[in-house]
Amino acid sequence: MTAELQCEAVAKAFAKRTVLAGVDVTVAAGTLTAVLGASGSGKTTLLRIVAGFEAPDTGRVLIGGTPVAEGRHRAVPPERRGVGYVAQEGALFPHLSVGANIGFGLRRSERRTGHRVAELLDLVGLGQEYAAMHPHELSGGEQRRVALARALAPRPSLVVLDEPFSGLDAALRTETRAAVAGALSEEGTTALLVTHDQAEALSMGREVAVLRQGAMAQTAPPDTLYRFPVDVEVARFVGDAIVLDGTRDGDTVDCALGRLPCVAIDDGAAARGGVDVMVRPEQVTIATAVRGATAPGGSAIAGAGTATEATVVSVTYLGAEAVVRLALGDGGAATARVFSGSLPEPGRRVTARVSGPVVVYRPGPR
Ligand SMILES: Nc1ncnc2c1ncn2[C@@H]1O[C@H](COP(=O)(O)OP(=O)(O)OP(=O)(O)O)[C@@H](O)[C@H]1O
Ligand SMILES: [Mg+2]
Repeated sequence: MTAELQCEAVAKAFAKRTVLAGVDVTVAAGTLTAVLGASGSGKTTLLRIVAGFEAPDTGRVLIGGTPVAEGRHRAVPPERRGVGYVAQEGALFPHLSVGANIGFGLRRSERRTGHRVAELLDLVGLGQEYAAMHPHELSGGEQRRVALARALAPRPSLVVLDEPFSGLDAALRTETRAAVAGALSEEGTTALLVTHDQAEALSMGREVAVLRQGAMAQTAPPDTLYRFPVDVEVARFVGDAIVLDGTRDGDTVDCALGRLPCVAIDDGAAARGGVDVMVRPEQVTIATAVRGATAPGGSAIAGAGTATEATVVSVTYLGAEAVVRLALGDGGAATARVFSGSLPEPGRRVTARVSGPVVVYRPGPR
């Protein structure tokens, strides 16, 4: 049975230091919401409040429409909330076998048959031979999967996961993320995952909520959050961003990267006049200028801005792609994320072109 989770204006302070200042988040039944927040922003605190290990000072938590916490009063104890908790440390019981770890929260009758444990090993992509093994015989990624299996075993209506993939190497992370996402959706479990890793949040969440200064700065589907962040700070938190001064004229903006089609979030920027322009580095393509050839001025490509001249400052090779730092004509700087097949050298004159619309904001401090 899966249930919707609602946190309404949840606030919490420790020794007068406010950690959560009024958090609102709703997770639709059977879906996963990822909360993205910097270290110390209160992610673990929020999960502990949802699970019932901590009480909010004010605000409410509802699971399946039933209040389980209302301020410091009327709290349903953790064991009666039906919440599976995968803790940040993710510690398994070291003296118990994998099978016993997974079966820990099951009723004795169900534990005895072993069916549910077998089912869960399958679900998290581990062979049946793992049941007899002990935690110290497992890799970090396998231990995380067992921790998830243990949380899912009693069929909780809600699972909360605290940075479940931290400390895993890149390949194992991708594989474990996929296994966990698959297991959760197969069981139809509602899940709240917290992380400081933007790639993790964007790849796992149907919705991603950005926790900043104790409240959600923005909650949106991953592609909306990445393409249309509500402000420059959120833009930088969910990815790399180039921020330039610009002058907006309706649907276009003039800036150091040329005249570009633009969109405004919440009409925060004036229709005409000075704005901050946010461009994602992968929107910038560069071409080495050929001497004597006419520069491809004007906007020949639909949706693309004009080409601008720039000088390559540095190139950072990342494998599949490279980050090219550019000096722009007006003394400004930009970065381009480009396919690393053919890279320009520092000092080279290039033309830079931006594809797709850029986002404009009311000018603010940077
Ligand atoms: N029981 C407690 N008593 C006092 N302060 C606490 C307590 N629990 C958390 N805090 C403080 O609340 C703040 C938020 O802590 P929390 O563990 O929720 O952050 P987090 O976002 O999970 O960080 P991380 O990404 O590093 O795990 C921290 O400054 C922490 O010191
Ligand atoms: Mg934490």
